[in-house]
Amino acid sequence: MSSKSGTSSEYVKVAKVSEVNEGSLKRIDLDGDVVVLTNVGGEYYAIGGICHHEEWDLSEGMLEGHTLVCAGHGAEWDLKTGTGKYDEPLEPEPLYGVKIEGQDILITRHPVKNK
Ligand code: FES
Repeated sequence: MSSKSGTSSEYVKVAKVSEVNEGSLKRIDLDGDVVVLTNVGGEYYAIGGICHHEEWDLSEGMLEGHTLVCAGHGAEWDLKTGTGKYDEPLEPEPLYGVKIEGQDILITRHPVKNK
């Protein structure tokens, strides 16, 4: 159980659909946690936004398909699983649930995977 308020199934509005075009990366500051929100082929993903290699901001990285490549030193993060590697596997990034309501993008207040 997290020490933060709310349950992992609670969603919060974080952006408009129009703010997250395909291939873009948007940094979200969520109750002190940094999350990066992205859109690949019309599917939205929300993943921990600080690289577990040397803590670069992953919203400054670039996408290669479903892989987010860190701008720092090129660690590769899988948007679907949260797994990452830089020579060797890194501690996985947390994954957040994402849903669309009208023109709004909502993510879970807490990670649903790799908490
Ligand atoms: S900080 Fe991300 S690859 Fe080094």
